[in-house]
Amino acid sequence: MDKVAYLQTWGCQMNVHDTEKIAGVLRGEGYAFTNKPEDAALIILNTCSIREKAEHKFLSRLGYFRRLKKKRPAMQIVVSGCIAQQEGEKFLIDNQYVDFTFGPQNIAKLPELILRDKRKAAVEENPYLAETELPSIRNDGTRAWVNIMYGCNNFCSYCVVPHTRGRERSRPMDSIVNEIRTLSDEGYKEITLLGQNVNSYNDPNNGTCASFAELLTAVNAVKGIERVRFVTSHPKDLSPELIAAIGDLDKVCEHIHLPLQSGSTKILSSMNRKYSYAQYLDKITALRDSVPGITITSDIITGFPGETSEDHKETLSALREIEFDGIFAFKYSKRRYTRAADMEGQLDEEIKSERLKTILELQDVITDKINRKLKGQTVEILVEGESSSDPAHWTGRTRTNKIVNFIPVESVKKGMFITVNITNSFRHSLEGQPDR
Ligand code: SAH
Ligand code: SF4
Ligand code: F3S
Repeated sequence: MDKVAYLQTWGCQMNVHDTEKIAGVLRGEGYAFTNKPEDAALIILNTCSIREKAEHKFLSRLGYFRRLKKKRPAMQIVVSGCIAQQEGEKFLIDNQYVDFTFGPQNIAKLPELILRDKRKAAVEENPYLAETELPSIRNDGTRAWVNIMYGCNNFCSYCVVPHTRGRERSRPMDSIVNEIRTLSDEGYKEITLLGQNVNSYNDPNNGTCASFAELLTAVNAVKGIERVRFVTSHPKDLSPELIAAIGDLDKVCEHIHLPLQSGSTKILSSMNRKYSYAQYLDKITALRDSVPGITITSDIITGFPGETSEDHKETLSALREIEFDGIFAFKYSKRRYTRAADMEGQLDEEIKSERLKTILELQDVITDKINRKLKGQTVEILVEGESSSDPAHWTGRTRTNKIVNFIPVESVKKGMFITVNITNSFRHSLEGQPDR
């Protein structure tokens, strides 16, 4: 079979970026890529296990590939990412048609795994992960993700990530900045720094121990890069120094994704988040004082074990008090290896669904109110190209990370910064008119 690969990804930006690296490694081995799995010699499924739903989506897709392999036995089926890491050898035992698996720390081993006769689950710890430089295939041309750290040490009691991505390790600052310089030379304009908890970045090199604020300062100085973003921030590590840096550095965009998870301090404590609601609120106030116009988005988990209707009400009142620009809200999902899975007070799906609905309805009203105020304003957007949901429109993003759709005009090209007048607002997007 020709060297042709089909890649599919589930999960967070970090996983999507891992797929870019998987593609980079495969290209080095002479592979081409297809979006038709039926034509591929190699299928790699890069998985996510953050919630049960993510796992289910992958498993139902895997059934399709199993049938495909019956017709094309020479095809290799490979599972990577967080499910591969979490399940280890067991996954190979339970799924005999899967050729091999590898976890997020073992992407570099892909070439040897493809050639191996014996099936293997490559899930061992890689102590050199933060120093390993892998090529990436990025298709966007304008916006790029760059890893600054791997793993997580926080062990929030509901979360599988520390178990799938291992311990936290920061990537040396000079290699991060070098990669961004190269991206700038290639024409990239926007960089998103990636890590599970970017605020606790700590340069491991040369005893400099640069903090995340110092890294932001270095990235801000790279010529040609116009916008700098980062995900995800943990509230406990959001220092006054970092808040000041976000306000001072001209390329760092006025948006932060700061997961709250719950408005109840009691629940936050059993989630092991290490901040109270009052402390979280203080950080929001500091951010809004130091970074005028900053937009704030968040994550909420509803129906955590032991969450009473009072706790739920505290989350609702937190949403009213803070007025996030948008949230991702999830029903608590029981995960293997996590402490919360064994906690008392697990709630019924019905209660979780009901609470989720209330949360989303309330947030819709808040987002709508905030976005409506933007009507009539002129804002700068970075043009991303055709809208995926509506080919008649093009789309771009403000520095504050709001999506703006507009009818394309000839002079406007992907990757350009343009100003638009906001003519209409919807819950998850704005509509604008290019100002030229
Ligand atoms: N490192 C990031 C994001 C981790 S995963 C952070 O700390 O914020 C993204 C989001 O998924 C989390 O913020 C949380 O809201 C949600 N999540 C994680 N585990 C979950 C679980 N077991 N059930 C429901 N939602 C979960
Ligand atoms: Fe999971 Fe908490 Fe780490 Fe985020 S900080 S990845 S929620 S353990
Ligand atoms: Fe999912 Fe792993 Fe990311 S569990 S959310 S792909 S870190």
